[in-house]
Amino acid sequence: MATDKKILRVLRGERMDIPPVWLMRQAGRYLPEYQEVRAKAGGFLELVFNPALAAEVTLQPIRRFGFDAAILFSDILIVPQVLGCSVHFGEGEGPRLQPVSDDFINRLAEKKFNPIIVNPIYETVARIHQGLVDEGFEDTALIGFAGAPWTVACYMIEGGSSKDYALARHWVQHKPEALVRLIDSLIEVTAFYLIEQIKSGSEIVQIFDSWAGLLPTEQEFRQWVIEPTRKIVDLVKTQAPEIPVIGFPRGAGPLYKIYIEESGVNAVGLDQHVTLNKAQRYQARLPVQGNLDPEILKTGEGLEKAVQEIISSLSQGPHIFNLGHGIIKETPPANVERLVQTIRRI
Ligand code: CP3
Repeated sequence: MATDKKILRVLRGERMDIPPVWLMRQAGRYLPEYQEVRAKAGGFLELVFNPALAAEVTLQPIRRFGFDAAILFSDILIVPQVLGCSVHFGEGEGPRLQPVSDDFINRLAEKKFNPIIVNPIYETVARIHQGLVDEGFEDTALIGFAGAPWTVACYMIEGGSSKDYALARHWVQHKPEALVRLIDSLIEVTAFYLIEQIKSGSEIVQIFDSWAGLLPTEQEFRQWVIEPTRKIVDLVKTQAPEIPVIGFPRGAGPLYKIYIEESGVNAVGLDQHVTLNKAQRYQARLPVQGNLDPEILKTGEGLEKAVQEIISSLSQGPHIFNLGHGIIKETPPANVERLVQTIRRI
């Protein structure tokens, strides 16, 4: 596999005048061609578990915009199913999970995991890999991913999205033994899942910790965000030492610093609340990814200026251009086109 792809070079510490670019949620509902394939599949999960169609929607934004990386089309809420927790995505609503009970936690010890359920996802990875070759995207790298244990646990405990994740935070305070068991199982399954994605053709993996910002004390952040991530990174590195791991502890604020120092990730995804000053300091330690506000991309107002600022601040070191969070579904594809042109014109 080619190791001179732009994004891989940046992940090894190289700086570039024009940073490689990809966007979180780059395959998705803002693209009419995605909506079409999703309708054909009959639903989101039907799409995720159909390797031919999932590979197709992964490649759509690469064809349209020529991004430097393709990210596997799947979801972080697939892993709970490996642990035996059912997951549904209703039409027009968020995910629904069967909330974990004490009984569920007790049964985790028996480790009745069901890894077969994710086999189609490895086939998707292999198909995307082949698709990139067949369609001549030789400089486009393939990113695999998983949710971090803390974020996945948040959804499993709440039974879906939540306003404030009060129940998950309640577990931190009052049910830490149960939370340890859940997180430990997630560490094991997630590491295995990422390693299999790598064996199938992923050249980079990203760990999404979307709710890292819910843990404001250093002690809690270390225990539930940094430590599980570090264990996954260690396990992945024993099997695939050369594969870069990008960590994205969204909303970590001042705790980004210890995440960078202690989690073992090779690069860090920055949300839009990280100032460019701070970003430069983090970049002195490792490659950074980010961090345009998705709202600016949606409205298009001040887009060129915001892009310019990010690039001029971060072009002295290794930088991958991305958003600070996933693309908003109302974003006009024309704005994404403008973004990519702006980055590559600078
Ligand atoms: O980035 C990509 O293009 C790859 C695919 C991808 C999806 N979800 C597809 C998706 C990735 C990497 C994710 C990650 C993900 N999923 C995260 C972490 C990043 C973040 O956004 O914080 C989280 C928290 C989830 C959980 C999730 N998936 C929720 C809460 C929802 C419902 C809300 C929403 O945005 O629709 C999803 C659904 C989902 N995942 C969609 C897509 C394209 C929309 C499904 C549809 O077509 O209806």
